[in-house]
Amino acid sequence: MDEASGLQFLSSHGRSRTGNDVIFAWLARYQHAAAAGADAVNGTVGALLEDDGALAINATVDAALREAPAVEFAAYAPLKGLPAYLDLAPSLAMGEHRSALEDLGVHHMSTATPGGSGALFLAASTFAERGDTVLLRSRHWGPYQGFLRGVGLKSVTYPLLPEHPNQATPFHDGVAFESALAEMVEQQSKAMVWLNDPAHNPTGLSLPEASRAALLRSFMESALRHEHVGHTLVLDAAYHLYADEPHGWASTLREALEEGWPWPENLLICVALSMSKSHTAYGLRAGALVCLHPDQAALETLRDIMGVTGRETWSAAPRLAQYTLAHLHGDERAGQAWADERDRLAALLDQRRSAFVSACEALDVPINPTHDGFFAWYECDDPVAVAEHCANQHVYLVPLSGGVRIGLCAIPEGSMRRVAEALAGARG
Ligand SMILES: Cc1ncc(COP(=O)(O)O)c(C=O)c1O
Repeated sequence: MDEASGLQFLSSHGRSRTGNDVIFAWLARYQHAAAAGADAVNGTVGALLEDDGALAINATVDAALREAPAVEFAAYAPLKGLPAYLDLAPSLAMGEHRSALEDLGVHHMSTATPGGSGALFLAASTFAERGDTVLLRSRHWGPYQGFLRGVGLKSVTYPLLPEHPNQATPFHDGVAFESALAEMVEQQSKAMVWLNDPAHNPTGLSLPEASRAALLRSFMESALRHEHVGHTLVLDAAYHLYADEPHGWASTLREALEEGWPWPENLLICVALSMSKSHTAYGLRAGALVCLHPDQAALETLRDIMGVTGRETWSAAPRLAQYTLAHLHGDERAGQAWADERDRLAALLDQRRSAFVSACEALDVPINPTHDGFFAWYECDDPVAVAEHCANQHVYLVPLSGGVRIGLCAIPEGSMRRVAEALAGARG
């Protein structure tokens, strides 16, 4: 059976969805080595593991889930989400700045989604015309490409790190960002930017205040200058509750508005929330898209569109996590217990990151700037060769486009020296 005559039932767009997930392929190599008795280090996983390799579970979330009434397991959720959960989502997105932003005239509207992935899908399918290009950074979470392609969008990138660093705006290539944006607004009626910050996957980079402010101003200025072009900034907050400044973007927005920046009506800011990591609820598929805009009527229109898009894609998002998390955060003691456990897990990540960064410094391994969240990143021309070299030392990492991802979330502090040594060896 030749390829052209076989699989006649497969559409051409179905055919384009190929490629086994590289992360799972390298995890399998680790598992194989470990099963054969090797003293292997697992840096492939994208979930937070305790030092003994068990999945870290926030015990407060687990206890709350087990107390949920049967009906919360069995019933559908309302299509747009449970009201109490839709009130929790903006608090998780804006934190302590929520009421100040509300007082400044910022309205918000949330839609419950199956995980952060669902929130990203809603943005992709709503805020760009078919065939448009969406602006990403050069290093980004791989599935972005699939979400965009699936709804007929393309992507263009600007550098994650500036070629000519500007000390006033660390880690932000303002020149490249503005020129990519300018090109988009010349050619399209919608300009959408996706930014995974803070605690970027796959590098762990977080933009500092000055860089967030510069990016926001560039985006607002572009919206003001091009009033007929819709501007949407999507902040992918998949890891934000483990970052030093979890609500840095809300703070930056608040400062801009307090300084008197006008919010152009063609500007929308969205936060794509995921409860997968923050609440160790990966499999419960809970997330939300939180849309911010000064016009409540515009948000009401979006509310209906999001509800219909969700209905026609996944029906309603799962109910159990919505009920449980709203209930948990509605109780001060339970909310504090969740935060204490989250702080413990954040401290675990901090210790591992410090140990890794110090070992890399000692061995002269040039890793990318890494601040928060689950990962660190080794930029290189031949990621597969570097990962192969490390695997020869039984250190298993993930080669991706442009570099190797180091899952700090999965590696005990005591193994960080070995990881740095393996990378140092790969440099030759
Ligand atoms: C950068 C980034 N965004 C979004 C997500 C979405 O996660 P989920 O759909 O599990 O909530 C992930 C998960 O790995 C991620 O790494």
